[in-house]
Amino acid sequence: MKVFVTRTIPPEGQALLAQTGIFKLEQWDSDEPISREDLLKGVAGAHGILCLLSDKIDKEVLDAAGSNLKVISTLSVGVDHLAVDEIKKRGIRLGYTPDVLTDATAELAVALLLTTSRRLPEGIQEAKNGGWISWKPLWMCGYQLLNSTVGIIGLGRIGQAIARRLKPFGVQKFLYTGRRPRAKEAAEFQAVFVPLEQLAAQSDFVVVSCALTPETQELCNKNFFQKMKKTAVFVNVSRGDVVNQEDLYQALTNGQITAAGLDVTSPEPLPTNHPLFSLKNCVILPHMGSATYGTRNTMSVLAVNNLLAGLKGEPMPSEFKL
Ligand code: NDP
Ligand code: DGY
Repeated sequence: MKVFVTRTIPPEGQALLAQTGIFKLEQWDSDEPISREDLLKGVAGAHGILCLLSDKIDKEVLDAAGSNLKVISTLSVGVDHLAVDEIKKRGIRLGYTPDVLTDATAELAVALLLTTSRRLPEGIQEAKNGGWISWKPLWMCGYQLLNSTVGIIGLGRIGQAIARRLKPFGVQKFLYTGRRPRAKEAAEFQAVFVPLEQLAAQSDFVVVSCALTPETQELCNKNFFQKMKKTAVFVNVSRGDVVNQEDLYQALTNGQITAAGLDVTSPEPLPTNHPLFSLKNCVILPHMGSATYGTRNTMSVLAVNNLLAGLKGEPMPSEFKL
């Protein structure tokens, strides 16, 4: 059997790959992404593919792989880079990495929210460049979580982990939205299920932690930002395409909202001359939610174990239900 791995993966997963001995390993052995051309060549005849979120696995790639392909294992919880319907149609099994990255991503979301709402990058810059002349009553003021309303778009694994971390800051009320109420999960935070527009209108902090699907594509657009409070802070740790970035730019420059913190953008990487980078009230990170050594190693081991189980026809530790 042939397995194609589209990148050098973290050491613990890499070690596991090397010791299985049940397949012939071909790998794009680099820290940099594989080109489309090399991906199409590399997957030819593969029984298994281990890919990253930066690899678009569409019909063309599946055709290039051919009929041997039994399993795809992605080193991510998000599956928006995969042609899920086509994978299902071909009877290919799909492994992904939920749960093991939830804590790291929620921690980063809280860090990004605080960094944005308390204007840390501006403060650091002012202290360094001489803008810090004296202590002034309203200088560098931002907004705090105490007594606030936090709206979470997507109270899934990561959304709940974010709420759990924000609660001790003294948040007064949690709102959430999704396809349907999640009464059991929401009970922990006494979170109230509301329509998207109501969440926009009533939240002091909006946190996006949903999956990217056709329904969530550009969910946060002009209409959404116009409904938000002028003092509200917007944070996205989901996928860039959940946001219409042009509308977000307008909202940030017109004072429709106060600030935004983005761990994800469209495209990725966001070109350094993108207008959002010119705004003081926009904090942009390079998609680093799950970026801790421990989490990335654990993700890599899970991805390899999913791959192995798929090749052996055994239950996967984390199989995506197609
Ligand atoms: P879950 O499947 O647990 O949660 C997904 C959430 O998306 C659910 O709450 C679901 O709500 C919500 N959702 C789906 N459709 C809609 C919709 N139409 N409107 C509103 N909400 C919707 O996944 P995780 O929490 O584990 O991960 C969520 C996403 O976070 C991933 O798909 C990925 O894109 C992103 N992510 C980003 C990381 C980063 O580094 N920044 C790291 C890890 C993940 P419901 O089912 O109630 O409708
Ligand atoms: C995912 O897993 O979907 C994240 O975006 C990266 O960890």
